[in-house]
Amino acid sequence: MRTDTPPTIYRKDYAAPTYFVDTVEMGFDLEPELTRVATRIVMQRNPAAAGRDIELYGEELELVQLRLNGKTLTARDYRIQGGILRIAGAPAKVTLEIETTTQPQRNTSLMGLYVSNGNFFTQCEAEGFRKITYFPDRPDVMGKYTVMLRADKKLYPVLLSNGNLIEEGDLPGGRHYAKWEDPFKKPSYLFALVAGNLVCQEEKYKLQSGREVLLQVWVEEGNLDKTQHAMDSLKNSIRWDEERFGLELDLDRFMIVAVGDFNMGAMENKGLNIFNTKFVLANPRIATDVDYANIEAVVGHEYFHNWTGNRVTCRDWFQLSLKEGLTVFRDQEFSADMIGSDSGRAVKRIDDVRVLRQAQFPEDAGPMAHPVRPDSFVEINNFYTVTVYEKGAEVVRMYQTLLGRDGFRKGMDLYFQRHDGQAVTCDDFRAAMADAGKRDLKQFERWYSQAGTPRVAASVRYDAKAKTLELTLEQSCPPTPGQKKKLPFHIPVAVGLLDRKGRDLALTLAGEKTAKSAATTRVLELTQAKQSFTFTNVAEKPVPSILRGFSAPVALEYDYSDAELAFLMAHDSDPFNRWEAGQRLATRRLLSLTIAVQAARQSGHVVSVDSVLNSLQHDSALTDALRATLNDASLDPAFRELVLTLPSETMIAEQMEVIDPQAIHAARQFLRRTLAKELSADLLKAYRDNHHGGAYSPDAASSGKRALKNVVLSYLAELDDEQAHTLAQQQCDNANNMTDRLAALAALANSGATGKRKALEDFYSEFEQEALVIDKWFTLQATARTADVETVRTLARHPAFTLKNPNRARSLIFSFCNGNPSAFHALDGSGYAFWAEQVIALNGSNPQVAARLARSLDRWRKYSPALQERMRNALRQVADTPKLSRDVAEVITKSLADK
Ligand code: TRP
Ligand code: ZN
Repeated sequence: MRTDTPPTIYRKDYAAPTYFVDTVEMGFDLEPELTRVATRIVMQRNPAAAGRDIELYGEELELVQLRLNGKTLTARDYRIQGGILRIAGAPAKVTLEIETTTQPQRNTSLMGLYVSNGNFFTQCEAEGFRKITYFPDRPDVMGKYTVMLRADKKLYPVLLSNGNLIEEGDLPGGRHYAKWEDPFKKPSYLFALVAGNLVCQEEKYKLQSGREVLLQVWVEEGNLDKTQHAMDSLKNSIRWDEERFGLELDLDRFMIVAVGDFNMGAMENKGLNIFNTKFVLANPRIATDVDYANIEAVVGHEYFHNWTGNRVTCRDWFQLSLKEGLTVFRDQEFSADMIGSDSGRAVKRIDDVRVLRQAQFPEDAGPMAHPVRPDSFVEINNFYTVTVYEKGAEVVRMYQTLLGRDGFRKGMDLYFQRHDGQAVTCDDFRAAMADAGKRDLKQFERWYSQAGTPRVAASVRYDAKAKTLELTLEQSCPPTPGQKKKLPFHIPVAVGLLDRKGRDLALTLAGEKTAKSAATTRVLELTQAKQSFTFTNVAEKPVPSILRGFSAPVALEYDYSDAELAFLMAHDSDPFNRWEAGQRLATRRLLSLTIAVQAARQSGHVVSVDSVLNSLQHDSALTDALRATLNDASLDPAFRELVLTLPSETMIAEQMEVIDPQAIHAARQFLRRTLAKELSADLLKAYRDNHHGGAYSPDAASSGKRALKNVVLSYLAELDDEQAHTLAQQQCDNANNMTDRLAALAALANSGATGKRKALEDFYSEFEQEALVIDKWFTLQATARTADVETVRTLARHPAFTLKNPNRARSLIFSFCNGNPSAFHALDGSGYAFWAEQVIALNGSNPQVAARLARSLDRWRKYSPALQERMRNALRQVADTPKLSRDVAEVITKSLADK
């Protein structure tokens, strides 16, 4: 690598700050070319750090002036090295006055202060505040902020910052000002300002306590017809946190602002949440059901951070999951409670587990694997991962599974009682749970310190004479970078047993009084490497339902027969495992088809892999089970849709020793086509039953029906016949909402229908002005079955494409590299060459987004030697690029490192 290796930061090196901050006053003279920032910080020496320097972080700043207790410092009074400004020999009480300038218009990293579509925004988490001023920019330094914003009144009529507006007025020269005061102490990463030409939907809202608060959703002028859902979601979030956790909004004013250029989903700045437009703007014309659900979840997520993240924050960035894992868990529970019904909750649970397995399990098995609480990092931005977020949420969920809902609530209450206003660690959270629940959770710590997905192998022995069933659970965890050996985890395993008729048995464990409780699901606690549990009074040999509700983030191995899986699919009272049984059955079938494709290829049957597959012995277990589910009107349509959706190509890939993307693709397509043929009559009926033209509503019941209907449409489209084309074309023409429109367009785009080109063009011209819809248009084409690298290169030259907007870059480039595996992994390596070009281009403008894309090759060692070679070359090409950012360098270095 040409660049100097950037330093690694270690968790074990944590040292308390040398100075604590009391108050921060800031004045901004906002100009896109050059913004002047004056900051006055009142600080006090940490008594435990006597004799040590004041340490201020700063990046890409022009330092105009620095005063300490009124005296101007010269270059001899301080040192700047490696992004840290140090002042030695300062007194215990210090007032620093710092003047800096930045260039928001040229800031393409979207960290710190930047301009998007002519308006000013900030993004400070994790370490963006240091791009605004020199500051002890670390989460364990908290201060009270007062902020004065000054800007041109015509161009920037709206001036927002954290907390309460305490003063505003006009200034000479067509300028104006607004002064904001945040009554709560906060770390610098929660600072925010917004200035520009924006409008808002606002509402007064009454809290349970009777106090009234002002809620606002700020957007660009043309988007006021797309804010209602975000506003509704915000009100629901406020009410939910009061009811479920007894947590009240602590401010008089709460603002959400939407911005089109944003690196991630949204940001929980105190009282001034800033959102990617994707997670705010919705109306039936432009947003799908999934968009509606995501908006609710993200609005909830950021709002819930106000307590889990802001009131109680992280001591250091290694503790990131303290706020993120907990807040994801809270938003998951919020979304589930909003659906209400048991089956709706199950659908939400399945969705969440799908994300975990599709993205987090591979991360845990790859070169970037890290514990929920990492031990080291080069660039913290690279650790906003599915492990920290989604696995972190599973870890929090396990507390609730072990302690019960009430026990978990008691733990939360104790956590806030102890730590409100503090910056704490994951250990503090665990201690609150253990103390409130009076439980020993020492071993549970390993969920924070050990990376990798644990395997749990289960086996049973039934003793007909003694009427006992012995369940043996054995755990292990594969090695991950830097962690060869793992110690046993504390794993809650929820178990049920089904009798011959599919009914749940009442469960009694050996040693307990018979029928002491009628519980039909028991949470077993696996803490040893191997452990057995004996159920008594088991009258006949049951079928076990293990890991109900996905009670732990592990990979469960149990040798089910096909018949047992079909039986569980039909009868399990636990909807998660009911779905899971179908996925297991389908995975099995897909893996054997994949092997058949490979065999056919090798024997020279290149002409028609299909004819070979067709000649395979027909296996009706899966078809019959799917037909039964499809036609079972007692099941939620949303649940039926999940069962009908085959495991993704990525999921199948993870099950293979050596990934063969094209064979997986051929196998999965073959199975989809076969199912479409075999189930065509049932599919057609399901389509008609669930298709209705009434007014659009995004509620769970209606969106479930649309989901089922549209997965059915996608199957019918596999037949690629006139009937399917007509159905898709009609739906495309008549849809009154984006969910149906997009599903129909996708069905057309993946077919040989004559109207396909025109449908795509019409869609573009109709939605040209809606950036979020044009993103969908790019994604749909990048992931279409017929798409290859050339398709994507052509689309990248489209006038509407730009790498500078992260949503647009994700819609085309990321969608192709991560969502179209058989084309991306083209045997000639053309996909990798394209990937390298894009990573290098993004590296220069937006390192954070570039590093995300860099991760698309994480699993390169799982492919054939020929593909590995091509991927290694692409990785090296990026590694050899001059001026590689810390972000990209870390990902690439770890990817290329010896295993
Ligand atoms: N804390 C934010 C959340 O999870 C996400 C976030 C972290 C972020 N760093 C960011 C968003 C950088 C945008 C840019 O809610
Ligand atoms: Zn978050």
